[in-house]
Amino acid sequence: MRVLGIETSCDETSAAVLSGTGDDVSLESLVILSQDVHRIFGGVVPEIASRAHLTAIVPVVERAIADAGGSPIDAIAVTNAPGLVGALLVGVSYAKALAFARKIPAIGVHHMEGHLFATALEHGNAVPPFTALLVSGGHTLLLDVEAWGRYRVLGRTRDDAAGEAFDKVAKLLGLPYPGGPHVERLANVSECGPLRFSRPMLRRDQTPTDPDFYDVSFSGLKTAALNAVKNAGPDLDSQRGAIARAFQDALIDTLVEKTARAVRQYRRSRVVLGGGVACNATLASAMRERLAPRGVEIFAPSARLATDNAAMIARAGLFHLERGERSPLDLNAFATQVIPGLVAA
Ligand code: KG4
Ligand code: ZN
Repeated sequence: MRVLGIETSCDETSAAVLSGTGDDVSLESLVILSQDVHRIFGGVVPEIASRAHLTAIVPVVERAIADAGGSPIDAIAVTNAPGLVGALLVGVSYAKALAFARKIPAIGVHHMEGHLFATALEHGNAVPPFTALLVSGGHTLLLDVEAWGRYRVLGRTRDDAAGEAFDKVAKLLGLPYPGGPHVERLANVSECGPLRFSRPMLRRDQTPTDPDFYDVSFSGLKTAALNAVKNAGPDLDSQRGAIARAFQDALIDTLVEKTARAVRQYRRSRVVLGGGVACNATLASAMRERLAPRGVEIFAPSARLATDNAAMIARAGLFHLERGERSPLDLNAFATQVIPGLVAA
């Protein structure tokens, strides 16, 4: 089956063509147009994002189809939740119109389920069962994936998403948006000094039945960074690296510990990282350092597939299409929606 994927949930207009069956797929094309305009505002402006998607959607889809050799498409997979509703609606409306015109089926895909499939496009072994850590600008989710379509949500953020925390701390440090890569670069050239932030929601006495055993919270870390910036005062230039390092160390330590708990509890031998923060090489190497000695393999996608892209949507869509699922023509877009296929924790 040859599937066209469309992703417009936030600030990337993306289309991809993927063909194959089951886990044996090949990516024929992937076009990602990032909306750089939001850098001026230091964050995504929803109305501007929707309008930029409108301008880009036709050429991006046409380019993806052309790059794939122009062969006929059998079905269309489109992100319909969660995300910015106006942005999602551009992709959803376009996908439905194209499916109707070509007399082919369309399927709505949950954006976070897409992130779960992204790493498998590059690593043949990044398939269930595995522990998944999805860390993006809008979400932080720890899941146990026993099979495609069977997801157990173990933990999530109580406040800021991991990427959001990176972006906010970057802003406090006077770094450009999106801040994650800038904070990582700065942290990695800074020594681990005396400045240390306490690890959020991490205590020795937590047990698997505690609601915060797997959950994370990053807003306190943001406040700690703010206080450090205030304390530095006019000396911020010489302190910036130490603050970035203390922040990144605390955030990564927390994510690694929570992931290690899930791996232990569900006896998994694979960890799959996804979402924009999975671009953070320090996170992946800290995971490896902690879990490789226990025989656990860590899979992180390349930057192109870690951040928002339509290839992962086409891949998740293929899974649902192969199960005979189809979305009706009144498929709608939703700002929030639970990931499909949840099993009890
Ligand atoms: O998945 P994504 O492209 O978009 C959302 O669905 O949110 O993730 C974007 C997020 C941003 O917050 C960005 O700062 C973060 O991913 N990010 C990073 C790194 N590269 C991107 N965070 C930490 N370290 C990085 N190297
Ligand atoms: Zn995303």
